[in-house]
Amino acid sequence: MAATDLRIPGPTPLPPEVLQAMQTEMTPPRNAEFREVFSELLAQMRRFHGTSDTVVVLPGSGSSGFEFTLVNTLSPGDKVLAVSCGSFGERYASVAEMLGLDVVRVELEWGSAVTTDVLAKVLDQNPGVKAVLYTYSETSTGVANPVHEIGALVHDHGALLLVDAVSAAGGIPIEMDAWGIDMIFSGSQKAWMCPPGLVIVGVGQRAFEAYQQAKFPRFFFDLKIAADRAKEGTTPTTPPMTMIYALKAAADLIDAEGLNNVYDRHARLGAFVRRGVSELGYRLVADEEYVSDTVTAIYPPDGVDATEVLARMKSEHGIDVGGGLGKLQGKAMRIGHMGYTHQPDLERTLTALSEVTNQLRG
Ligand SMILES: Cc1ncc(COP(=O)(O)O)c(C=O)c1O
Repeated sequence: MAATDLRIPGPTPLPPEVLQAMQTEMTPPRNAEFREVFSELLAQMRRFHGTSDTVVVLPGSGSSGFEFTLVNTLSPGDKVLAVSCGSFGERYASVAEMLGLDVVRVELEWGSAVTTDVLAKVLDQNPGVKAVLYTYSETSTGVANPVHEIGALVHDHGALLLVDAVSAAGGIPIEMDAWGIDMIFSGSQKAWMCPPGLVIVGVGQRAFEAYQQAKFPRFFFDLKIAADRAKEGTTPTTPPMTMIYALKAAADLIDAEGLNNVYDRHARLGAFVRRGVSELGYRLVADEEYVSDTVTAIYPPDGVDATEVLARMKSEHGIDVGGGLGKLQGKAMRIGHMGYTHQPDLERTLTALSEVTNQLRG
């Protein structure tokens, strides 16, 4: 069971096995032992992403995935579509704009989902889109967008499907090949149960083909160099060895539990939290049809101040709960339940939340 009361949506608590792995002594970074560990990790990651293609693991935070996916598949001035429903979808669009892409930005109401119907309409209205930028689990609202049903639609419009799975991967299912995802990225500090510091990117064949035409200059995040080095069991620059040992230990824990059992646990915990907070009078930010099982964003009951709830959860119960992001700052809260998180952790969180809420209701 988790030893901390870190209930924010990342970084998440670290299992003892991961902490232990981080004490591994350094060796020459490209020796045979290290390559074997890293190659095994990459094979596990391919399985966890549902792909027989490529996964690369590189130094970087989740946000480096925004840049990696864009610069390796596109050229300045290319038209891309970013339909967002929260803070991270908007960030993907902003990064694309900063890089000089021609971004068709559609911002949906926060809490709603980017459904197939919405996407179909916008794609029809915007011919010539080269890529769709999509957020799987929108961490700011707790929405899980239906990425499993949009691949064919995106490809029928001649576009690539690029997916931010930072708060999804390792916690809720990903089937890259079956769903037609061309590139998908995540960060080590969420459901992967590791500290921040690694970006994990799944890459399909279409993305490799797009790479051949992509004219963005790049060095640190060049896909071909990364994929070639990955085949050799290493990274283009000195491997972040400690982090890779940590992620290997986490991947072994996922395999020991069973990937589907990990997903089932997240589904159970997600439902448990949503039921618990609703009973206390909180309202989900997310449309109930599209909830994420890794994070729950909630509005407090009338008369209860979100900032005060967060402060008392911390000062009186030692529990860190996430605040609202962007336009939800001060209005909503976010409970993380991904990675190394179990039922007793969340029971304690809900008991504390009940006490704090009752105090504030007066
Ligand atoms: C969905 C999503 N995308 C991107 C990011 C950015 O990740 P990082 O802060 O590791 O750069 C986050 C971080 O919370 C996230 O939740």
